[in-house]
Amino acid sequence: KPFKKLAAALALTAVFSVSAFANDPIVIKFSHVVANETPKGQGALMFQKLVDERLAGKVKVEVYPNSSLYADGKEMEALLLNNVQMLAPSLAKFDKYTPKIQIFDLPFLFDDIKAVERFEQSEAGQSLLRSMEDKGITGLTYWNNDLKQLSANKALREPKDARGLKFRVQASEVLDAQFKAIRAVPRKMAFGEMYQGLQTGVVNGAENPYSNIYSQKIHEVQKFITESNHGLLSYMVIVNTEFWNNIPADIRTELTKILDEVSVEVNKQSHNLNQSDKQKIVDSGASQIITLTNEQREKWREAMRPVWKQFENAIGADLIEAAEKANK
Ligand code: LMR
Repeated sequence: KPFKKLAAALALTAVFSVSAFANDPIVIKFSHVVANETPKGQGALMFQKLVDERLAGKVKVEVYPNSSLYADGKEMEALLLNNVQMLAPSLAKFDKYTPKIQIFDLPFLFDDIKAVERFEQSEAGQSLLRSMEDKGITGLTYWNNDLKQLSANKALREPKDARGLKFRVQASEVLDAQFKAIRAVPRKMAFGEMYQGLQTGVVNGAENPYSNIYSQKIHEVQKFITESNHGLLSYMVIVNTEFWNNIPADIRTELTKILDEVSVEVNKQSHNLNQSDKQKIVDSGASQIITLTNEQREKWREAMRPVWKQFENAIGADLIEAAEKANK
């Protein structure tokens, strides 16, 4: 009898120690700066849900939206230190790591989001995912938000309307040059500070897709939104290379499969999500949406186009040509 009791106690200890020490799930902290209701926010939650369903007990994804863990400017550093394992920064935020990714921010490069997808899936687009491995960053996939619109408290119909206005930009040399090309004043500012920057007049205008305008309430502090579709906001889902390569192969394969599924879904829904946010902005009556005539839009294109030449050497003329081909 005492022996039986001891055996039972030992068995119990064994059970506990297995669950406490061995096979702890791999934790993937996924940090981002936008709201849950945006394409990226939805993608992160979808990834978390599918991992929960298919890799329960093996991998656990923790999502931190709205700059709640790291604001931009800090998140890439955190990834390299393995304090966070997955991010999806805007493609405008990589120029420190590889100048080639600046391609995505050239103004008026892509005709529409379908062309963006074609370029991302092309050999040239896919090779950019692996262009930062020597820096410890592995790109896994692209998630698109949408094309960007200009906003201000002034009606912007032609480039000259923007002259002298201060625009919030992401930390990107291309976007800095883009606003200088129209003789406006770019101000680099973290995403999470944009609303207040606009509200207090530190900056007068911004460029965002409708989903970010709506979820950040930018339309409440900007009287006009010009539907310019002049540039792109898309993301690269990235991981710390060493962390990723150390994940057991079978688990890594499953994570890749899940991520591929999520990417298809995000990229299928992102444009519609932006369109429905546009409608919500219209319905709010808080901001007026300006539609450009072809002639007006052509003026913006002409004014911003010199930026291409400025960055041609850093990006590569061949890569620019490959991207242009995606327009069909
Ligand atoms: C921005 O800073 O405007 C964007 O990169 C934010 C985002 O992640 O969509």
